[in-house]
Amino acid sequence: MSRVILLRDVQFAYGPHPVLRGVDLQVEAGETVALLGPSGAGKSTLLGCMAGLRVPDSGTVSLDGHDLRGMSRDQLADLRLRTFGFVLQEGGLLDELDLLEKRRAAAAPG
Ligand SMILES: Nc1ncnc2c1ncn2[C@@H]1O[C@H](COP(=O)(O)OP(=O)(O)OP(=O)(O)O)[C@@H](O)[C@H]1O
Ligand SMILES: [Mg+2]
Repeated sequence: MSRVILLRDVQFAYGPHPVLRGVDLQVEAGETVALLGPSGAGKSTLLGCMAGLRVPDSGTVSLDGHDLRGMSRDQLADLRLRTFGFVLQEGGLLDELDLLEKRRAAAAPG
């Protein structure tokens, strides 16, 4: 099967504040998608759900037909290491490493 990110009816709320309401999205291999919206619209939250960093309240997120809900934290971390590339919006980088060094460190065995 071709590589695909699939979201179906994804809902997410921070406590009582709903952010994602019924999001459907399909991204095929090789496709370029821009997610546009005003600040606070939920773009980062949606990316977090796609990468398994946030767990939707309902709906499904799958990658290549594998439902992220069934994956352990370790499996999700492995998926992010091998499948996703993120340029983080807020910090999250180690000051002493540049991006390539950080990636090499993450990929090193042990
Ligand atoms: N950790 C959190 N706890 C509570 N509310 C949050 C949290 N993170 C984001 N929010 C709220 O959820 C909504 C969506 O935030 P999100 O960061 O996904 O928006 P965004 O579209 O990425 O915005 P920006 O363009 O500023 O990056 C906003 O109202 C935000 O204040
Ligand atoms: Mg954002």
